[in-house]
Amino acid sequence: MDCTLHLVLIFSCIYLTCLSSQQETRFVYNGFDQADLFTDGLAKILPGGILQLTNTTERQVGHAFFKQSFDFAPSEFFTHFVCALVPPKLGADGGHGIAFVVSPSMNLSHASPTQYLGVFSIPTNGTSSPHLLAIELDTVSTVEFDVLEKPHVGISVNSPLSVESALPSYFSSALGSNVSINLLSGEPIQVWVDYDGTLLNVSLAPINIEKPNRPLMSRSINLSEIFEDKIFVGFSASTGQLTSNQYILGWSFSRSKELFQALDLSKLPQAPLPHDEPEKAPLPKDKLSPLLIGLVVVLVILVLIVLGGLYLYRRNKYAEVRESWEREYGPHRFSYKSLYKATNGFGRDGLIGRGGFGEVYKGTLPLSRHIAVKRLSHDAEQGMKQFVAEVVTMGSLQHRNLVPLLGYCRRKGELLLVSEYMPCGSLDQYLFHNRNPSLSWLQRISILNDIASAISYLHTGASPAVLHRDIKASNVMLDSEGNGRLGDFGMAGFHDPRANLSSTAAVGTIGYMAPELITMGTSTRTDVYAFGAFILEVTCGRRPVEPELPVEKQYLVKWVCECWRSDSLLETRDPRLGGEFLTEEHTLARFLTIFSRYRSFYASVNASII
Ligand SMILES: *[C@@H]1O[C@H](CO)[C@@H](O)[C@H](O)[C@H]1NC(C)=O
Ligand SMILES: *[C@@H]1O[C@H](CO)[C@@H](O)[C@H](O)[C@H]1NC(C)=O
Ligand SMILES: *[C@@H]1O[C@H](CO)[C@@H](O)[C@H](O)[C@H]1NC(C)=O
Ligand SMILES: *[C@@H]1O[C@H](CO)[C@@H](O)[C@H](O)[C@H]1NC(C)=O
Ligand SMILES: *[C@@H]1O[C@H](CO)[C@@H](O)[C@H](O)[C@H]1NC(C)=O
Ligand SMILES: *[C@@H]1O[C@H](CO)[C@@H](O)[C@H](O)[C@H]1NC(C)=O
Repeated sequence: MDCTLHLVLIFSCIYLTCLSSQQETRFVYNGFDQADLFTDGLAKILPGGILQLTNTTERQVGHAFFKQSFDFAPSEFFTHFVCALVPPKLGADGGHGIAFVVSPSMNLSHASPTQYLGVFSIPTNGTSSPHLLAIELDTVSTVEFDVLEKPHVGISVNSPLSVESALPSYFSSALGSNVSINLLSGEPIQVWVDYDGTLLNVSLAPINIEKPNRPLMSRSINLSEIFEDKIFVGFSASTGQLTSNQYILGWSFSRSKELFQALDLSKLPQAPLPHDEPEKAPLPKDKLSPLLIGLVVVLVILVLIVLGGLYLYRRNKYAEVRESWEREYGPHRFSYKSLYKATNGFGRDGLIGRGGFGEVYKGTLPLSRHIAVKRLSHDAEQGMKQFVAEVVTMGSLQHRNLVPLLGYCRRKGELLLVSEYMPCGSLDQYLFHNRNPSLSWLQRISILNDIASAISYLHTGASPAVLHRDIKASNVMLDSEGNGRLGDFGMAGFHDPRANLSSTAAVGTIGYMAPELITMGTSTRTDVYAFGAFILEVTCGRRPVEPELPVEKQYLVKWVCECWRSDSLLETRDPRLGGEFLTEEHTLARFLTIFSRYRSFYASVNASII
C-alpha cells in the first residue's frame, strides 16, 4: 500500500515536472492581461492588456521579461511578437526604439537609455562586455553605432554595434518585391525571430500580412559562445530627447518549431493612437472668437468713424459752392483746395494786406506761379451770378497797366479772387508809409501816366465800358519794373449806357467820390473825378481826407484849389520831393498830356480840380 502510494506520488511528481517543464518551453500572450511579467523602468501592463514599455517621458528605459528562465541548451528558439511604436504626433519623429532581448539576467539596471535602448550601458573601463543578444527596432540612428541613417532593424551581440542591420521592409511574394515598413506609423508591426542553432532569421510584416517567405535578415551566429546555461527572454525600450509610446501587444515564444503557437491577431489589444492635437485648438478659438469678433467689430467701427470724420472734415475744409450757371466759367474757377495749399492754409505769414472788404494773401501755385488771393466775405447769394460774370469778364481784360485777374472761387459766405502777385506792393505804401525807395517826381508822373492809360482802356477800350469805381493809391500796384498797375476790381461794375444811372449803387471811398455822385449816380465821370483826387494824392503825398490836420487842410481837393487861387500851389507838393520837381508849366503840360488820354472827360476833370 505504502509502496503504491509512493509510486503514485513519484509518478505524479514526474508528471507534474514534465508538465511544468513542457509549459516552460513555450508561452503565448494574446494581450498581457493574465501575464506574469517582470517589469522595471517605465514598463507596465496597461488595463486592456497592453504592455507599455515606455511612455513619452524623455531619457527613460523600460524592461519586461518572462519571469522564468530557460535552459539554453538545446540552443534554438522561435518567437513572434507584435509591437507598436507611437510617436507623440503622428508623422513626427519618435525615439528611441525597442529590442527583443536574450539575456542571462533580468537585471538590466545598469543599462542606458537613448541609443543604448536600455540594453547596453555606456562603456566604462573595467566592465567586461555583457552577454546579450538584442534584436533592435531602432527609430533613431546614431552615427557611432549605426551604418544606416534611417530607422532600421539590427542584430546586436554583446555590444550596441549591430552585427547586421537592414531597413525595415518585408518581401511580398504577391508583389515579388520588398515593401518598406514605417516603424513610427503607430500601426502594429509583426516581428519574427527564429534561431535554429546556427542561423538567426529576423522577419517583419505589417499586422495584416502573413509571415514573409524570405526573412529580412538571416545571420549565422553561434549563440553557444555567448550563453552558458540559463537565459531570460524579454523586451527593452528607451526614450531620448525623441520619445514614443512603445507597446508590445502580443507575444508567442517557443523552444521548438513544432510546439510554436501562432498569435491570434484578432485578440490583440489596440495600441492607443495619439490624441489628435487639433482638439485643443478649437477650445480657445471658441472661447476667444466672440471677444475677438467684438474687438474687430469695434475696431472696424472706430476706423470707419475716424475715416468718415476725416472725410467730412476734409470735405468741409475744402467745401465750395458750385452752381450750374458757373459751368461756363470753368477755366476761371479755382478749387478751394488748390488755393488753400497755395497759401499754406491762409496762414498769417502769407497775409499781405487787409482792406475794408477782405484780406489779401500771397500764394504760390505749382510751377512757382505767384498769386494774390483776396478773400471777400459775402452773405447774399443775390447778385452773385452777375458779380461772377463781371469778375470773369474782367479776367479777360488785357492791358499792361491792369493787374491781371486770374479767376475766382466760391465758398459758403466767401468769395475768393485770384490775381497776379505784384512783388512791389501798392502805391500807398510808398506815398504814406515811407516805404523805400521814395518815389521821384518823374516816377510819379510815369505812374500817373500808367493809371491814366489803364482807366482810358477801361472806359473806351473795353466793351462794354468798365467802371473801376474805387481808384485810389492803395488800389494801384507796382510791378517789378516799377510800372503802375490798376488793380482791385472787387468794387467795379459795368456801365451800361442804357441803364438807369441812379439805379447803380453808390460805392467808393470818401474823398475820391465826385460830389455829383450822390445825385447823379455812377458814371465814367466819377472815375475821372477819383483819378483827379488820385493825381493830387501822388503829387502832394497825402490822403484826400486827413482829419488830424488843421481844418483848412483837411480836404485835399479843397485845399489845393484854395492854394491855387492864392497862387501858393507849390506849398501843396509832397515835402519829400524837396527841390526836385518840374516847373509849373512843365507840370501842367504833363498833366495836359495825361488828360488828353481821355479828352471826352477833360471837362469834368477841369471842373473839379483845375
Ligand atoms: C510616464 O510614466 C511615468 C511612470 O509611470 C509617469 O511618472 C510619467 O508622468 C509618465 N509620463 C507621461 C508623459 O505620461
Ligand atoms: C542589478 O545589478 C546591479 C549592478 O549592475 C546591482 O547593483 C543591483 O543590486 C542589481 N539588482 C538586483 C535587483 O539584483
Ligand atoms: C579607458 O581605457 C583606455 C585604454 O584602454 C584609456 O585610454 C582611457 O584613459 C581609460 N579611461 C578611463 C576613464 O579610465
Ligand atoms: C529585399 O531585401 C533583402 C534584404 O534587405 C535583399 O537581400 C533583397 O535583394 C531585396 N529584394 C528585392 C527584390 O529588392
Ligand atoms: C532562415 O532563412 C533561411 C532562408 O533565408 C532558411 O533556409 C532557414 O531555414 C531559416 N531558418 C530558420 C530558423 O527559420
Ligand atoms: C558553437 O560554439 C561552441 C562553444 O564555443 C562549440 O562547441 C560549437 O562547436 C560551435 N558550433 C558551431 C556550429 O560552430
